[in-house]
Amino acid sequence: MCGIVGYIGKNVASSVLVEGLKRLEYRGYDSAGLSVMDSNPQMHTRRATGRVTRLETKINAKPVLGKLGIGHTRWATHGQVSEDNAHPHVSADTKFSLVHNGVIENHQSLKLFLQSQNYSFRSQTDSEVLVNLIAYYYAKESHTEERFLHAVRKSLKRIRGTYGIAVISTEEPGSIIGARYGSPLILGIGSGENLIASDVAAIASRTSKVIYLNDNEIVSVKKDDFSICTLSQENVEPEINTIDWNIEEVKLGNFTHYMEKEIFEQPIAIRNAMRGRFSEDESTAVFGGLNISPEDLRHIDRIILLGCGTTWHAGLIAEHLIERFARIPCEVEYASEFRYRNAPLHSNTLVFVISQSGETIDTLASLREAKRKGYRVLGITNVVGSTIARESDGGIYQHAGPEIGVASTKAFTSQLTIVAMLALYLGRMRDMAYSEGHQFCQSLQDLPDQIQQILDQKNHIESIAKRYAHYEDFLFMGRQVMFPIALEGALKLKEISYIHAEGYPSGEMKHGPIALINKDCPSVFLAAGGETYHKSLANIQEVRARKGSVIVIVPDNNELPEDLAPDTIKVPHCHDALLPILATIPVQLLAYYIARERGNDIDKPRNLAKSVTVE
Ligand code: M6R
Repeated sequence: MCGIVGYIGKNVASSVLVEGLKRLEYRGYDSAGLSVMDSNPQMHTRRATGRVTRLETKINAKPVLGKLGIGHTRWATHGQVSEDNAHPHVSADTKFSLVHNGVIENHQSLKLFLQSQNYSFRSQTDSEVLVNLIAYYYAKESHTEERFLHAVRKSLKRIRGTYGIAVISTEEPGSIIGARYGSPLILGIGSGENLIASDVAAIASRTSKVIYLNDNEIVSVKKDDFSICTLSQENVEPEINTIDWNIEEVKLGNFTHYMEKEIFEQPIAIRNAMRGRFSEDESTAVFGGLNISPEDLRHIDRIILLGCGTTWHAGLIAEHLIERFARIPCEVEYASEFRYRNAPLHSNTLVFVISQSGETIDTLASLREAKRKGYRVLGITNVVGSTIARESDGGIYQHAGPEIGVASTKAFTSQLTIVAMLALYLGRMRDMAYSEGHQFCQSLQDLPDQIQQILDQKNHIESIAKRYAHYEDFLFMGRQVMFPIALEGALKLKEISYIHAEGYPSGEMKHGPIALINKDCPSVFLAAGGETYHKSLANIQEVRARKGSVIVIVPDNNELPEDLAPDTIKVPHCHDALLPILATIPVQLLAYYIARERGNDIDKPRNLAKSVTVE
């Protein structure tokens, strides 16, 4: 939530910052702003509500010159969406400008203190309190050297909460100071220029060398130099990482929306999730980064899977598959619940945290809580170098490529592929037969082509979506391993089309949700083949009998009476444990085309942000 970018170097800072903000916009899009310092030195700040393009228009109308600056895209936490509440926030004495991602919990008491010291405030934000606190400590600071850095450090020691910040000052015009606690911050090292950002997307076009800051670290960034220390003034020897980002991957190309692009990238994303991860000889999956020996894994007798939103749904699928193939009892929990619950764990418990961004605050807090109690925590993440990836004891990278659309698509099916491979791996260490493993490996490798076959039906799915786009309520139903996909279908529809939708196990329909069914509430049935198929058909009949319209997603080897469900989407017949992956594609496309038909802003749905880094 909220995107931060800072630049110091030889180029016009505002152009670099605007480009970075456009790449960060998926983190928050309530307002955007920047402060640039000229050579006088004087601070120039421009802010606008809404999208970065509105800020750009303002800057074009009244350019800001200077080679040092900070910028921000906001996802509002404190205070409504207004220009006054937009970042950067400038201190009352106009000497400091700050951008902040996070929440300062004790801002009220600090504000009262600063007001008693005659500091005035223009916004309702917690961030304005911090910039004034820095100004206050700067004025009081007795150090002549590094006075700015000392003032920031003293201020951060006084606040409670989370932050990723970048601050500049007319008093020390040659540096940007950044710091993090709980919200991500990276340093990009360029040639004759350096950058600071909340994520790689903002700076990947300028450098591939990055340093991931850790909590409680402060960086002082100059044009050709930087230094990192901790809040308690210990010097930090940083590790410089080379990022493997192809900037073309974050361009829209011929697509209208990132969500559309990412849906259509799923064959490649799933190939990449599997690449180099099979052992033909042993009919199993292989993972390089788990950091846990097969011997230790054999002693695991319970797995806890944690995630939020869509990744929680991936956890539910993992539970089904791991319990089925490896017979290890699993529990899936919302990370936001787990972190505050004193869940009993015991020594043979393995914890998996799943997170596309690797920055979701609740998932990160759960990871830390589990580690604090001494449990081994493995991560499944897409973003290389993210905090969760760095703090896990080991894990699996998704390699799905950057996901920009706020509604997660390719990251989800890539997570499902990885958890299916994990179930295979754990199963083959235990009771799963060689032949069963072999067949499952083959089925996994068929997935990319099968997904392509579903994507090729886009016109058919779009025509269904157009006919259903006017409804205001939907039910999604599926049994067993299809139930999490019912939840995911409902979540996707809610997120981008703002239609009320709920996911249920089909067998629960008669225990309540059937009361909702009438001609104005259609249902999407995720029918699996096998033993529950005829039960799903009976449920569809029950909905039709109550005048409910029905869309059925079904494997193509199952006969479906045409008059029962005129709106049918067939997916290729596959291993039943992998059907959730294929059935996800039509629910994503339905949500996408319905939202498009309704004219919604699909990549930036209202009130949402791509990665939830505040509670
Ligand atoms: O980055 P993460 O996977 O940790 O994000 C978790 C959820 O915030 C995320 O899946 C969210 O539910 C998406 N907007 C779903 O489309």
